[in-house]
Amino acid sequence: MDRIELSRARRFKGELYPPPDKSISHRAVIFSSLSKGESIIKNFLRAEDPFRTINAFRALGVEIKDTGDEILIKGKGIRGLREADDVIDCGNSGTTMRLLSGVLSGNPFFSVLTGDESLRRRPMSRVIIPLRAMGAEITAREDNYPPLSIRGRKLNAITYAMPVASAQVKSAILLAGLYAEGETEIVEPSKSRDHTERMLPAFGAQVRVEGLNITIKGRTELKGLDITVPGDFSSAAFFIAGALLIKDSEIVLKGVGINPTRTGLIDVLRQMGADIEITGIREVSGEPVADIFCRGGRALKAVTITGKEIPAMVDEFPILCVAATQAAGTTTISGAGELRVKESDRIWAMAGALRKMGAEIEEFDDGLCIKGRTDLQGATVESYGDHRIAMAMSIAALIADGTTTVKDISSVNISFPGFYESLRRLTA
Ligand code: S3P
Repeated sequence: MDRIELSRARRFKGELYPPPDKSISHRAVIFSSLSKGESIIKNFLRAEDPFRTINAFRALGVEIKDTGDEILIKGKGIRGLREADDVIDCGNSGTTMRLLSGVLSGNPFFSVLTGDESLRRRPMSRVIIPLRAMGAEITAREDNYPPLSIRGRKLNAITYAMPVASAQVKSAILLAGLYAEGETEIVEPSKSRDHTERMLPAFGAQVRVEGLNITIKGRTELKGLDITVPGDFSSAAFFIAGALLIKDSEIVLKGVGINPTRTGLIDVLRQMGADIEITGIREVSGEPVADIFCRGGRALKAVTITGKEIPAMVDEFPILCVAATQAAGTTTISGAGELRVKESDRIWAMAGALRKMGAEIEEFDDGLCIKGRTDLQGATVESYGDHRIAMAMSIAALIADGTTTVKDISSVNISFPGFYESLRRLTA
């Protein structure tokens, strides 16, 4: 099995352009494929998850060319997809499966979506329920787990109050809404990432956002566009936290997306006492982007995080747990039940791995508390094939005594190919 041995780093120093944003890369491919005319995607995330979305749309008849530098898509319009002649494999990618479910619900043919072992354990009833209400025919294992079979139908618009804050569910419904007669309205329980609402109107969709209400008008044609994808805050987060935890560090993360629906970790780390500066704020393809300067060595203090703060930092939970082991006092994270149904059960996985390194952690249903500060000790830890657990534990290894072995690290290629090269360069 693939694993890496890491030991204490003296410091992080230098500059890093984090990889392009994963969520935005997926959306750029999907919306371009559904548009009429050509789209060019610049700074596309060349990682396993977004390539799953590219391959899915190729299977549905869209011409997508990878020049090695840019992705060129000859869109077919919302009515131009054709039935795939095989099962579509979404790999590890929940975004591919859930957003595609919305698209395929409005397409009058038969589709089957499957995924890897992890994705086949993730709940899909959250998209099945609203898509069925719109008229789609969907079946699943235990009515919840992939593979999913979808027979697209003529869809009707619905008003749907989402029980969980999920950008994947919201986007699936908005995409199905493109095919429905009339206006589809979604009400979110709290604000999840809004990349779909920002990007779809640029392609010509009629989307209205009022607080937690989002409306889309159905049956509007989309038109191809050139898009530049900003750097991924969720990938930058490992280096932001790493720099804060390693004493003599000073790094700048360049060209990072700072959409406020994503950057909850910055607010929390600042509350903990971290030294973070954001400069050069600009706009790239409708998304705010900036450079993030981080200096290490400040003493951190514990924080209390509740459910309403989770959506804006949902993917940063693993690295926040690592930071909490270094904060004085007890950090409590609650209302985070969603973390149990990510690529792995991230509450259980982080509690187990950090405990093995000596952290004091109490786990409960919807979160955990971490009592700091603890001098972490090297250990052999599992990552359960979850890219964000592997990266978070690799950062933990850099602040621990002795050697830490992180198992199953090839998953970093899901979102951050080159993670270990960047780590080596910044610690050299
Ligand atoms: C994503 C939404 C989030 C996030 C995931 C990507 C997206 O999932 O955790 O990594 O691109 O819409 P949920 O919608 O399940 O919260």
